[in-house]
Amino acid sequence: MHEKEAHIEVDLPDNLPLILADRDRLIQVMLNLLSNAVKFLTPGSGLIRVTLSRRDDGLQVSVADNGPGIRPEDQQLVFEKFRQVGDTMTAKPSGTGLGLPISRRIVEHFGGELWVESVPGEGATFRFTLPFAPVQPPAAAPAE
Ligand SMILES: Nc1ncnc2c1ncn2[C@@H]1O[C@H](COP(=O)(O)OP(=O)(O)OP(=O)(O)O)[C@@H](O)[C@H]1O
Ligand SMILES: [Mg+2]
Repeated sequence: MHEKEAHIEVDLPDNLPLILADRDRLIQVMLNLLSNAVKFLTPGSGLIRVTLSRRDDGLQVSVADNGPGIRPEDQQLVFEKFRQVGDTMTAKPSGTGLGLPISRRIVEHFGGELWVESVPGEGATFRFTLPFAPVQPPAAAPAE
């Protein structure tokens, strides 16, 4: 196993509203995004930034790296099963090409969206949203 050095920055604000989702499935999504970021980061000067932020109707999670990025024409393809893109001469990606399609299915199952933003040469940022849990109305007081 090849050791890679990377800086990881994490920005997790407190007191965010709750979301309703399956913890293990979200861990699976995060593991895939993080392992992808590690796989493609710039050797020696790798940087990964994980950010959690509040949007109008839900949370947004971003995993950004400073690797080679993904060409615009490939940015939809990476969400197709078994698709691996990029320069296969210099960087043959390991894995099966299932992580992103599965991650998108999981996020959509919980009512969110998963997409990528990338400028080739400057890295890739994967983002997903998850809607806030509906606020429970207070239980009615028992009748006297
Ligand atoms: N952070 C990234 N930077 C550059 N390319 C990426 C990044 N993340 C994904 N890709 C591209 O998208 C492809 C699909 O990613 P996906 O996670 O679905 O599969 P994988 O990582 O190759 O395999 P698996 O997740 O099944 O182990 C990758 O093979 C790679 O070509
Ligand atoms: Mg993967």
